[in-house]
Amino acid sequence: MGKVILTGDRPTGKLHLGHYVGSLKRRVELQNSGEYEKIFIMIADAQALTDNADNPEKIRQNIIEVALDYLSAGLDPEKVTIFIQSQVPELCELAFYYMNLVTVQRLQRNPTVKQEIQLRGFSEGDDDENQNKKGTPVGFFTYPISQASDITAFKATTVPVGVDQAPMIEQTREIVHKFNSVYGETLVVPEMVLPENVTCCRLPGTDGKAKMSKSLGNCIYLSDTSKEIKKKVNSMFTDPEHLQITDPGHVEGNVVFTYLDAFSNDEHFAKYLPEYANLDEMKDHYRRGGLGDGTCKKFLFNIMEEFLQPMRERRKQYEQNIPQVYEILRKGSEAARAEAAKTLADVRKAMKIDYFDDADLIAEHTKKYQG
Ligand code: TRP
Repeated sequence: MGKVILTGDRPTGKLHLGHYVGSLKRRVELQNSGEYEKIFIMIADAQALTDNADNPEKIRQNIIEVALDYLSAGLDPEKVTIFIQSQVPELCELAFYYMNLVTVQRLQRNPTVKQEIQLRGFSEGDDDENQNKKGTPVGFFTYPISQASDITAFKATTVPVGVDQAPMIEQTREIVHKFNSVYGETLVVPEMVLPENVTCCRLPGTDGKAKMSKSLGNCIYLSDTSKEIKKKVNSMFTDPEHLQITDPGHVEGNVVFTYLDAFSNDEHFAKYLPEYANLDEMKDHYRRGGLGDGTCKKFLFNIMEEFLQPMRERRKQYEQNIPQVYEILRKGSEAARAEAAKTLADVRKAMKIDYFDDADLIAEHTKKYQG
């Protein structure tokens, strides 16, 4: 059997450069590698609703944004199936059965869930109006189980994700092992694929904070205009001790250099900054003193424009035909549904809850009552 990819994103906002280096770029490479029999890319609206129950409009607005970001980044609907999670109801049914194979205690130990509960400020107890605190929604608490359905429904062998998703994949593998040992070999054990290098896993925000996040306003969006990119690059956090060009500078914790680590290659130097053969030479000069932030920022801007400009062009084309984008999502969701339905049939059969197709069961009961 060929290899199958499933991965996806919650549609809570437009995708930014962090998403690009952390996953999108890789997906496009995997798509073009020809190594995969099928690739499913899911817009996880149902998962996004697990902690946005009171804001469905936000999710509804961002589905098209994420779809446009996917298409402009180079995902090709001829090669990958892009679909919307909520339009594949089979996923819910799978999750409902998997819930019986996972303990509350195991879910409580999931590090990502733990951290997210903290981050979202859910209280230990129930909703508390006096303290203006909310308890953890059950749907949110159990989303790792729903994620196991997403992955197993497509018999995915390969799940390309960022490190923060590792506990989800681990939990999926446990569910698969448990299911197969209780009901017989049915589900496929997935492997996780991480981005290649460490900088790629986590791109800091333009302000130097650990992560790009919409609420911190430190993101560079894939859909930003050239002007916006220039402004954001120019306002990037560098080295507060590098006041004069001649002062020695630090490259560690300097966002411009972190981004150069992630994006620059030797060809970029030959093309835009031939004074240096590579990033090491440039860093040395910065450390010694004599290299200004302006020059570094201009170089970074040129590199970013080189891959963002074609994305912008592609986005413009799709923006001019939004009904076509919805049609891509509709067709993708239909195809995904057909695939998930096959797995669900296998699951029902393995669990022996396919009563009407179970000739043995009907024969057994016929015998029982006919004596
Ligand atoms: N949890 C993922 C995120 O927050 C989105 C997601 C939902 C996902 N289901 C998935 C990722 C299945 C990989 C596989 O980004």
